[in-house]
Amino acid sequence: MLATFYAKALDADFDEPILGDKWARDIVDRIDYDWSKTAVTARTSPAVTTRSAHFDMWARQFLAVHPEAIVPHLGCGLDSRYYRIDPGPGVEWYDVDYPDVADLRRQLFPPREHCHIIAASVTDPAWLADVPADRPTLMIAEGLTMYLTEAEGVALLRRIVDHAPSGELQFDAFSRLGIKAQWTNRVVTRAGAKLHWGIDGPDEILEAVPGLRLLAYVSPFDSPAFARVAPRYRVMARVMSAFKKLRYMAAYHRYAF
Ligand SMILES: C[S@@+](CC[C@H](N)C(=O)[O-])C[C@H]1O[C@@H](n2cnc3c(N)ncnc32)[C@H](O)[C@@H]1O
Repeated sequence: MLATFYAKALDADFDEPILGDKWARDIVDRIDYDWSKTAVTARTSPAVTTRSAHFDMWARQFLAVHPEAIVPHLGCGLDSRYYRIDPGPGVEWYDVDYPDVADLRRQLFPPREHCHIIAASVTDPAWLADVPADRPTLMIAEGLTMYLTEAEGVALLRRIVDHAPSGELQFDAFSRLGIKAQWTNRVVTRAGAKLHWGIDGPDEILEAVPGLRLLAYVSPFDSPAFARVAPRYRVMARVMSAFKKLRYMAAYHRYAF
């Protein structure tokens, strides 16, 4: 969580930022922490900020069509998506993360009338009782699914679809190869985290979660946000994209229900 947050703060200092998250920039200085422990640097920050910029884009698209939506933002960490997007007063937003993260959010972000914080594990079915079930619902889960087991993740997606009348699920995932390769990910190993759930394509989700329709399945390299990274990364992406397994080692998923 601190690693992705720090990447956003570093990006905000660029002359031409990818995400331009001034909230991350301001808040990082208020946390007494040795940020070098995250292993994130300005050079590697686009791996995070292109993903966040992509999910901001998808969220804005949904909210433009559904200005009175409910938004469960799961595994939010310290992400300032609500403040970046600044949705209208018709949107009720729910940032959900573990209690210690929720406490930190309350200390660091100014309260907003329509932005709520739920302190819970997303695997606990009880938190959904606090979320209204009468409007189109956008579930955003950025950087979360890989920390869940497959059983936990599938149960979570099914619960959202059962709970809400209609809406979208927007999340990123690693493939099984991506999960196997987790030891090469310095940010993950430094955090002492363990990744579990690998998804090899949208068919697995469509089969596991009844009632979904695929809207998009996108490699990070094909995201419009990726066009803004330094040329050396675009060259690397072109090479990796020649191999389907590498192209979709991480992927952005979007489903309607
Ligand atoms: C890699 S961080 C991503 C944070 C943020 N979404 C971002 O993109 O910057 C993963 C987040 O998921 C949260 N998380 C992991 N498992 C969770 C669970 N079972 N319930 C709630 N939050 C969880 C972690 O606490 C952490 O904040």
